[in-house]
Amino acid sequence: MRWSDTDTTKDSRFNRKKITVVGAGNVGATAAFLAATKELANIVLIDVVEGIPQGKALDMRGSSPILRFDASVIGTNDYADTANSDLVIITAGIARKPGMSRNDLLSINASIIADVTRNIVKHSPNCIILVVTNPLDAMVYTALRVSGFPKHRVIGMAGVLDSARMRLFIAEELGVSINNVTAFVLGGHGDTMVPLPRYSTVAGIPVSELLSEECMQAISDRTADGGAEVVRLLKTGSAFYAPAASVVQMAEAIIKDNKRILPCCAYLEGEYGMDGYYLGVPCKLGAGGLEAIIELDLTEDENRALHRSMEAVADLVESVDKLGLY
Ligand code: LAC
Repeated sequence: MRWSDTDTTKDSRFNRKKITVVGAGNVGATAAFLAATKELANIVLIDVVEGIPQGKALDMRGSSPILRFDASVIGTNDYADTANSDLVIITAGIARKPGMSRNDLLSINASIIADVTRNIVKHSPNCIILVVTNPLDAMVYTALRVSGFPKHRVIGMAGVLDSARMRLFIAEELGVSINNVTAFVLGGHGDTMVPLPRYSTVAGIPVSELLSEECMQAISDRTADGGAEVVRLLKTGSAFYAPAASVVQMAEAIIKDNKRILPCCAYLEGEYGMDGYYLGVPCKLGAGGLEAIIELDLTEDENRALHRSMEAVADLVESVDKLGLY
């Protein structure tokens, strides 16, 4: 038998789009794995720690004959391998440890994000960046400033995760499929996030017709506390399955040009009466990245809550601005 390859120029087995995931910790590795199983793109997993991205990538490839996905997943410590990525998911950073203030985390992660962003921009000047690192609203702002990219190419992941938790709690309360439940959470990714029961439905039925106000309030509160509830249980880390699944849903919408409406952390320039900050709002995601921001008509209470959330984000951004990273 004779086999003659005619194309020797390809740098991968598969001629696909390219996704780089920065950070091979729990969130990054899980996101890379999910994206690979969906055959979304060729995946590059990069981390500063030697061996970890390479080992995890090899392990993921090892599962491919069983799970039956064809994907190129490589692990590396060298940004040259990330060259010409279409999409970059940034998960790098540290999680809060006992005794650390929010500001300690902010300044350490902001310099990590600045460094990562510079490397990414150098090798993939046309990519779309999705940021996952916390504190999210300030980290995605840092990536925007450092990259100099337009706002439609720098987007943060938070609302998909927060809304997913809200959908789960509604589905569990009613004993129905999560496929029937839609929900929207706006605002910053923190204690001041704004769950919107008014825009939540079960098979098209407004949730207010199915659940009492009291019950919906409890679900909204549990949603806002959703990340912390996981941290309290894990004790040594924070959530990663749901955050990874959330950012992969955003990546899929962009790679497949789905034009999906998802709550994303977007840079606002006048929308919702806010200017120059990132905040969680409903967006349309497609091949162009952030293709539209949808302004809902909010009630006075909802508007007040959203502005409270913006003030919390503004505090964080002010602290980042002072670090002199851009
Ligand atoms: C969460 C953290 C990771 O919401 O932001 O789980």
